[in-house]
Amino acid sequence: MKHYRNKDLCKINTFHLHTRAREYMIIDDIKDLATLDLNRKYFILGGGSNILFVNDFDGLVIHNKINGIKVTKEVNNYIYLSINSGESWTKLVKFVTKNNWGGIENLAYIPGTVGGAPIQNIGAYGVEIAESVEYVKCFDLINRKFLVLTKDECNFGYRDSIFKKELKNKVFITEIGLKLTIKKHNYKLDYAGIKEEIERRKIQKISPEVIANIITYIRRKKLPNPNKIGNAGSFFKNPEIEKNLANKLLKEYPNMPTYPTNTESLVKIPAGWLIEQCGLKGYVHKGAAVHQNHALVLVNKNNATGRDILELANIIKKNVKNKFDIELEYEVNIII
Ligand code: EPU
Repeated sequence: MKHYRNKDLCKINTFHLHTRAREYMIIDDIKDLATLDLNRKYFILGGGSNILFVNDFDGLVIHNKINGIKVTKEVNNYIYLSINSGESWTKLVKFVTKNNWGGIENLAYIPGTVGGAPIQNIGAYGVEIAESVEYVKCFDLINRKFLVLTKDECNFGYRDSIFKKELKNKVFITEIGLKLTIKKHNYKLDYAGIKEEIERRKIQKISPEVIANIITYIRRKKLPNPNKIGNAGSFFKNPEIEKNLANKLLKEYPNMPTYPTNTESLVKIPAGWLIEQCGLKGYVHKGAAVHQNHALVLVNKNNATGRDILELANIIKKNVKNKFDIELEYEVNIII
């Protein structure tokens, strides 16, 4: 356990904001959790890839670096893994796809940590982590004991889980269990661009590793690299709206893309499309900007502050509400 005061968090948030934390602590051993004094404002930081610090943080930032990947059992076509929450998600996907275990190959090249993954139920290219989760283990910071939640108990939804609601700030995720396929993989190749890339590369035999490489290639082309220009991926969720409203909008905007949801009466609309229709692609506000290639990504263009980015987000929300009567929700965790 390492402890610092007045720490600049620039290198540990992917927006690269010069936020300062009054106190900052690295936790790399599970045993340290029991000794934490939490009678103050605190925040648990994983990869820093889905947060926006609006101001300096007047409290304790606890940085999770509890690492380790373990194979626990093999049963028939399945392999079970326990992964400590501070592990890098990208490293985990590389490790499992090198072994040709299947289930999370479409989630390649997503920044962040393993512990952050179930909180927002990371999803990409037609796959969500929820599909491979066996359990999530966490330390209950209020009652000071470990809890193990089954996949059902995690209440996973689109970019949502119990960790964003009832258990928000109450638990420290220590470990997750994944169940992956050894052979007979259930590939998801329908998302735009994947099959085209398989054909373009003239690939005869697909494998989890081949798919992970393709996804990495597609993401790299489409999304800005946070190491080069600060960003936190999609800033908003794709809104799920009533079919009635969608039908009304389709009359005016026949090219509006719509996707089915798990609820019969709702359809999903890409927020990137809505923002682009408002003429805001590439829009600059102070040091922040809407990325010129993907309107759902806000970037730190020129020494932005957290406030610049939040103001830009609010300009976007207002424009989308006025034009489409749709309320965008943040995907990124905003720390005020
Ligand atoms: N679009 C536009 N203009 C834009 C951007 C997108 O018109 O500037 C439209 C296009 O019609 C495009 C559609 O939006 O076909 C969907 O775009 P894309 O395939 O890039 O996906 P997305 O809906 O913007 C979601 C996730 C991403 C994930 C991709 C791929 C959310 C909030 N975002 O983005 O996740 O990588 O699908 O599956 O669901 C993240 O969460 O940080 C993230 C990057």
